[in-house]
Amino acid sequence: MEIISTVAGLREAVAKAKAEGLTVGLVPTMGALHAGHISLIERARKECGFVVVSVFVNPTQFNNQNDLLTYPRTVEADCEKLTEAGVDVAFVPTVEEVYPEPDTRVFDLGPVAEVMEGAMRPGHFNGVAQVVSKLFDFVRPDKAYFGEKDFQQIAVIRRMAELEGFDIDIVACPIKREADGLAMSSRNVRLTPQQRAIAPEIHQVLTDNADLALQRIDIETLKEMVVTELNAIDGMEVEYYEIVDSVTLQPVETWEDARHDLVGCVTVWLGDVRLIDNIKYPLSK
Ligand code: PAF
Repeated sequence: MEIISTVAGLREAVAKAKAEGLTVGLVPTMGALHAGHISLIERARKECGFVVVSVFVNPTQFNNQNDLLTYPRTVEADCEKLTEAGVDVAFVPTVEEVYPEPDTRVFDLGPVAEVMEGAMRPGHFNGVAQVVSKLFDFVRPDKAYFGEKDFQQIAVIRRMAELEGFDIDIVACPIKREADGLAMSSRNVRLTPQQRAIAPEIHQVLTDNADLALQRIDIETLKEMVVTELNAIDGMEVEYYEIVDSVTLQPVETWEDARHDLVGCVTVWLGDVRLIDNIKYPLSK
């Protein structure tokens, strides 16, 4: 595996792979790699002849300075994992390399970016669009891989790719979970043992209530039940639980209004750690 820290070096390596006729896959990450990332890489490895993984904690997507400062950084261990996973290039740039000057672009991301994470974390999705558009431009991959834990992020990236005219297959990959159901996340390492012990309840409560969705219980009631059950767990505080259209990401009030499968998206605080998760409610029973 080649570890590259400059955009010029990256472009050169990718150009060589393309000249050899290889399909190029990109897996953007912020490092602190776990089995969830590795599953994206495995998928990319299967589908592409040349796999680039970026490891870059993007400052422009953090609306909370403390979150940026405490975000886990484990570059050496990450590179070992990437080598083991059979990655061709690890792109590990500095902030100055990605942003030689401040990125002042404001993307017209539309309604997909206005709800949930977009409403709670002002500027977050614009920062994601900035960095992913840069990575797309540096690599010009055939395919790019993202995890469905950040379900809304994928819709935002699709919108950015459409706005910028990137002809890239954006591949959404299923959430990878710990054995006890907790969605894998780089932020999990920040949980205290006590918080870690209750964190799987997030997934548990979502799945426990999934049958009610199948029975088409009133959506508002379902939302209230999930929020009440999660808030009843000592140490947890729900920021939001929304049931949204999986394509438009807009909240849906009744099952009859649904045009696509629905997704229940939750954000929960455990102390100062913010975790997100989601569950799909398919339209066809
Ligand atoms: O999902 C993430 O880890 C980040 O938002 C991404 C897509 C790598 C952009 O920084």
